[in-house]
Amino acid sequence: MNSTKLSRLYLLFLLVIATGSHVWAKLYLRCELARKLLNQHGFERSLLSNWICLLEHESELNTAKVTTNPNGSKNYGLFQINGRYCQQGRRGGTCNVDCDDLLDENIHEAAICAKRIQIS
Ligand SMILES: *[C@@H]1O[C@H](CO)[C@@H](O)[C@H](O)[C@H]1NC(C)=O
Repeated sequence: MNSTKLSRLYLLFLLVIATGSHVWAKLYLRCELARKLLNQHGFERSLLSNWICLLEHESELNTAKVTTNPNGSKNYGLFQINGRYCQQGRRGGTCNVDCDDLLDENIHEAAICAKRIQIS
């Protein structure tokens, strides 16, 4: 490999590193998420394995996942919360939350909403 190619690779590498820290979505690992739900979001220990299983199935533990249902409504984030519980562009819906906030790497709002509507 010549030096031009090498330096291009190096630049690409730096770019990946530099942008990586700003990525908005988070892909959780099962245990990491279980610990977080238990310790920071007050989920019941006995229900954790059910939650993780459900969330793995629903969102692949990707906080930024958005899916469209056959009826045209959308599901948002880690918990795949249906759009009727949130509002696009401002706080609203049953959870009084902006749908985009349900996609945040910080799962605080999404966890409160999920517990409120108990999607299990
Ligand atoms: C659309 O489908 C989703 C998922 O199947 C459901 O949760 C939601 O209530 C439906 N919305 C309407 C308006 O029927």
